Amino acid sequence: MNKRVFIIVLDSMGIGQAPDAALFGDEGSDTLKSIRSHENFYCPTLEELGLFNIEGVGGGVKNPSAAFCRLRETSMGKDSTIGHWEIAGLISEKPLPTYPDGFPPEVIEKFESMTGRKVLCNKPYSGTDVIRDYGEEHVKTGALIVYTSADSVFQIAAHEDVVPVPELYKICEEARELLQGEHGVGRVIARPFTGEYPFTRTANRHDFSLQPPKTTMLDLLKKAGYDTLSVGKIYDLYGGKSVSELNRTKNNDDGMEKTLQMADRDFNGLCFINLVDFDMTYGHRNDVPGYAKAMTAFDRQLRRFLPKMRDEDLLIITADHGCDPATPSTDHSRECVPMILYGKHIRKGTDLGVRNTFADISATVLDYFGVPKEDTAGESFLPQCLSEAGCVEEPSDEELMAMAEKARENAYTPYSHFRVGAALLTTEGKVFTGCNIENASYTPTVCAERTAFFKAVSEGYQSFAKIAIVGGKEGETAAFCAPCGVCRQVMAEFCGPDFIVILGKPGACREYRLSELLPDSFTKTDLQ
Ligand code: THU
Repeated sequence: MNKRVFIIVLDSMGIGQAPDAALFGDEGSDTLKSIRSHENFYCPTLEELGLFNIEGVGGGVKNPSAAFCRLRETSMGKDSTIGHWEIAGLISEKPLPTYPDGFPPEVIEKFESMTGRKVLCNKPYSGTDVIRDYGEEHVKTGALIVYTSADSVFQIAAHEDVVPVPELYKICEEARELLQGEHGVGRVIARPFTGEYPFTRTANRHDFSLQPPKTTMLDLLKKAGYDTLSVGKIYDLYGGKSVSELNRTKNNDDGMEKTLQMADRDFNGLCFINLVDFDMTYGHRNDVPGYAKAMTAFDRQLRRFLPKMRDEDLLIITADHGCDPATPSTDHSRECVPMILYGKHIRKGTDLGVRNTFADISATVLDYFGVPKEDTAGESFLPQCLSEAGCVEEPSDEELMAMAEKARENAYTPYSHFRVGAALLTTEGKVFTGCNIENASYTPTVCAERTAFFKAVSEGYQSFAKIAIVGGKEGETAAFCAPCGVCRQVMAEFCGPDFIVILGKPGACREYRLSELLPDSFTKTDLQ
């Protein structure tokens, strides 16, 4: 059967400062926090999946439907390329090089001797200003205008009549070969222009991206015969390396529409999507309302995507860095990113905590396809989130009640002869049962509900959705049995006011919220 993994990268959707944010001048940045309180932000789908359940985010739902974690970046950079490479299992020790003072003589000299043309400018410059200020000299002498920006780019501007476009592209390709290793800039960009002074740029701009210097998840998947489909900027971010299909997009909306079409296709492998508007159009422009609105639009399209998922599909939603639109900086921010993993085989509500590298995504995807990770980084979190039987269907209230009745059979009640059974459902979909266990000295007696709770907690579960309780005298069928005050207090220790308590007897049950059974309870918050 085909296996499909969809990775959607919400470009720049960070969830709060990384531990080393100070090194990047980004203390306090939190992209999600800055947009979520805006009235344009309405993302119930992401909320249900568990976006707000991620450690440090806050405001999570009771029963998230996905597995989730907070990811830190190990690579020493905060640009999209470095972030995406890490998602694909490649950690970069250095950021891509930038040239605030222009390119060093050794680069320029090699470039000049390679092209047989001199270089003009060689500074950070605006693209329109550079042709106005150097265009005439270029036309006169044939020297190439080389300039950069705050980004890791080597840009070459030339008049189309002086250097025909195919020749300029060839020069860029040669420059791309030259600019590797220490001077491996993210992109070499052809910037042709035309006309008379002050000149105009043409639509023949072309980017020559850097290929990842080491093995990525894409290489390994492709080698193993899997599809590696791309939507949006993904192709460029990996310099086209090991990407089997390129689908360019006009904007986020188009990107999600293309993703929805992908979900109807029978491919076998990875569909890797980047939605760049969050970063390019809203993050960099410090546009909080725009960013919030774009998230709402994404959430709506995501809601249409989920029902298209098949049994063997996985969906991963993540980001590549932050770009907090509410801070004065318009640059990227060093933030942790969210990871949401959803699928039929994924145990709902699995909290994977905080993890040290985006590369855990790569390792998880490779693990799912059974492809060895070779020298790529990261650790798979798949084993922690795979549901045991392959797929867990949450028990219905009736099934939970039946489990409580079964547990009641084990009640140890030589003194009261009152037998109680309970079945406690965790938010991950696991059930722990309990019965009452009495004692000759009476007070050590433990109720059925607390047996279930303590079994669950001692197995590492602390997040609960509901409990079914049945009780009655020995030899009689179960009847409504309200939990005692002590058990209510234990419930309040681990459960919120919406925790559901089902009291049952065969064929009938009553449902309560914990807030009805124990209003104004004394809990751990009182001790803070
Ligand atoms: N019991 C429970 O198991 N759960 C409750 O919430 C109420 C009481 C048990 C304890 C004891 O073994 C017996 O019922 C009679 O009190």
